[in-house]
This record gives sequence, C-alpha cells and structure tokens, in this order.
Amino acid sequence: MDVLSAIKERRSIRKFSSKPVEKEKLNKVLEAGRLAPSARNTQPWRFIVVDDKELIQRLYHASQDQHQVLEAPIALVVCTEGLNRTMMCGQPSHTVDASIALSFMMLEAQEQGLGTCWLGMFDPNMVRAILDIPEDVMVMAITPLGYAEEIPEHRSRKSIDDIVYYNGYK
Ligand SMILES: Cc1cc2nc3c(=O)[nH]c(=O)nc-3n(C[C@H](O)[C@H](O)[C@H](O)COP(=O)(O)O)c2cc1C
Repeated sequence: MDVLSAIKERRSIRKFSSKPVEKEKLNKVLEAGRLAPSARNTQPWRFIVVDDKELIQRLYHASQDQHQVLEAPIALVVCTEGLNRTMMCGQPSHTVDASIALSFMMLEAQEQGLGTCWLGMFDPNMVRAILDIPEDVMVMAITPLGYAEEIPEHRSRKSIDDIVYYNGYK
C-alpha cells in the first residue's frame, strides 16, 4: 500500500475483535515508531505494549471507560523520557517527537490491516500508577491496537483551499 492510500483508508477504530495481533505485525508497527524523526535525534519515546487483560481493564478505567480499550487485544502506551524541551520555535519537542512516532505507527498498523484509535482522553497519573511509569516520564497517548470489528465512515476534512495558503497567511 502506498502512503497516501494508508492515510486515506485509516479510521479511528472504536470496535475491535478479540483476535490476537501476530507478533510479526506488532514488531513492524513498533519498528515504524522506532524509525521516526525527532528533534536532535533524541528519540525520547518509549512504547509500552500492554496485552495483560487485567492491566488493560485498568487502562480502560483510566481512559474514561472508552470501550475500544477493553475490546482490543493490545493497548499501546506512548511515553516520552526526560524533561520536555521547548524548541526555538516555541513548541515542546518531546510531544512533537512522540506524536510523529505514534502517527508513523498508526500508518504501519493500517498497512498491516490493524486498527488504532489515538486516545488523548485518559488520566496520565492513573496510567503512570498502573504501569509503574516514573514521575519524570510523560504519558503522551494511548492507542488500542487490533483487528477492527467495524470500520466507520470517513469523517469529513476541510478542503485544501481552506487550509493551504501561498506566500502569506490567507
Ligand atoms: C490528539 C488526539 C486525541 C484524540 N483523543 C481521542 C479519544 O480520547 N477518544 C476517541 O475515541 N478518539 C480520539 N481521537 C480520535 C479523533 O476523534 C479522530 O481522529 C477524528 O474524529 C477524525 O476521525 P478519524 O480518525 O476516523 O479520521 C483523538 C485524536 C487525536 C489526534
């Protein structure tokens, strides 16, 4: 699959089957994150693969009982190590880096026929306690990972004309 096709076909999956994810496919998803670019090549991300049912149940509660966490066989928790550095442009590099890594992993998951759903709605302190994540490590995002039971309709996007400007803002 070419990259644009993967981008076009990806959806946030909120209904998963319990079918396990093959180790080979999981490793390809993780490899896509490993190879992502990062500011000064610091690679601050750490990926926690959670496939223990009891831990997943607790992550589900930490994520406001979002049922997709409970259904999928894996919850992938994306963290960043070290203090968040602000780049000269004013943006926090660790958050940007980890976002790129997760985006790459979501696209590789699509390539592997797997579904994901980026979750920002979770209590990071609860997740830290559940997974023994140190205080100075940020929990950036969670995605369930598994086979989709239901693929939702494409959600609309703004047109190119609405978002792209040439030679100035507007
Ligand atoms: C930073 C971020 C946080 C999100 N948090 C959640 C979430 O907590 N729960 C959820 O169901 N979807 C969440 N989403 C998914 C968005 O709702 C979804 O990407 C958007 O509606 C577009 O739909 P699509 O991904 O199917 O194209 C999040 C997406 C992003 C990028």
